[in-house]
Amino acid sequence: MENILVTGGCGFIGTNFIRYLLLDSDFTGRIINLDSLTYAGNAENFADLATSKSDRYIFIQADICDAKAVERAFETYGIDAVCHFAAESHVDRSIVAPGAFIQSNINGTFNLLEIARRHADRLVLFHHVSTDEVYGSLGPEGLFTEQSPYRPNSPYAASKAASDHLVRAYGKTYGLPVTISNCSNNYGPYQFPEKLIPLMILNALDGKPLPVYGDGGNVRDWLFVTDHCRAVWEIMKRGTRGWMYNISGRCEMTNLDTVKMICDLLDEMVPGSDANSRRDLIAFVRDRPGHDLRYAIDCSKLENELGWTPRESFETGLKKTIQWYLDHPQWVRSVETGEYRKWIERHYKE
Ligand code: NAD
Ligand code: TYD
Repeated sequence: MENILVTGGCGFIGTNFIRYLLLDSDFTGRIINLDSLTYAGNAENFADLATSKSDRYIFIQADICDAKAVERAFETYGIDAVCHFAAESHVDRSIVAPGAFIQSNINGTFNLLEIARRHADRLVLFHHVSTDEVYGSLGPEGLFTEQSPYRPNSPYAASKAASDHLVRAYGKTYGLPVTISNCSNNYGPYQFPEKLIPLMILNALDGKPLPVYGDGGNVRDWLFVTDHCRAVWEIMKRGTRGWMYNISGRCEMTNLDTVKMICDLLDEMVPGSDANSRRDLIAFVRDRPGHDLRYAIDCSKLENELGWTPRESFETGLKKTIQWYLDHPQWVRSVETGEYRKWIERHYKE
């Protein structure tokens, strides 16, 4: 793999993945980051690498649904591998406006696969990044394995399930070298503050209410984003083609316990001016429609076959995450004010 097309590289996980590949891994080739820069894409995340690694980092602002632009990227840069992150990713948005999820997650993946198929002579891998949400919801017991049936409940999960099926079908029907990973909830640096963990960190720092859906008893299985990125890279290098791999931190937490932990860590790391705990900011709000009760992933296939294990515990990962948001007030401000959306124009004009 010398010229990897990363789609959605300006989003949360894509940013961490590209930074990991270029700064911390054994990868020596080039990254071609193709991203349309939706509200969730921040090209400024690479302000440093765009100059210091300009021979190994190329950015293309384009939609994965745009066949001409994707084709041009394959031709121009001799793409020999794809790592496909680009997607609409927020469940709450998919409930309010599912159309964009169908377009980007299903039609966009179909378009990429079609172009990958035309370049099959050179392509060594099409890796598709997916979610545990395709399996639906668990009761209090049990874990999702790679054999669990797909039972997606939200429009987001359904659109990701459809894209997984397309990738699998292109592997079986056309012999495209594909791998799929289904990962549990990620957290860490660069996450857009609409998702639970960054939203709670930033609201708690501002003394704003911490909205917990329902009774806060829903369970999520959390993984620090760099551990996810390492897993994806191991699968890309050594994973069996045609297979899917579950990824998780084996770290089940109720939402309420997660929010309380964030409050306690913040009280310790950034003591407030009064004696009150930030737990006092917790506010129970109306539940999300169709809210999946519990996700929990068995990732023993990945552990046994590729020897991957997570390095961060929930506590060390959360501390690193909180510290990152404390150390990057400019990033937070830019995202909150919408300033980040102008960076790409300024950068190209300068
Ligand atoms: P994100 O929303 O932070 O980033 C998505 C990126 O894709 C953005 O940069 C956006 O501009 C880009 N994008 C969206 N539609 C596009 C299109 N049509 N063309 C080109 N670019 C487009 O998402 P994320 O949290 O980084 O998730 C990345 C991938 O990982 C997604 O496929 C998601 O389903 C999957 N995933 C996420 C999690 C999680 O906890 N965040 C867990 C498991 C799997
Ligand atoms: P989220 O970060 O949106 O990820 P996902 O829906 O993909 O799991 O939400 C994580 C959990 O936190 C989920 O059970 C919904 C809940 N949640 C809240 O309770 N309050 C919030 O403000 C948000 C955004 C999420």
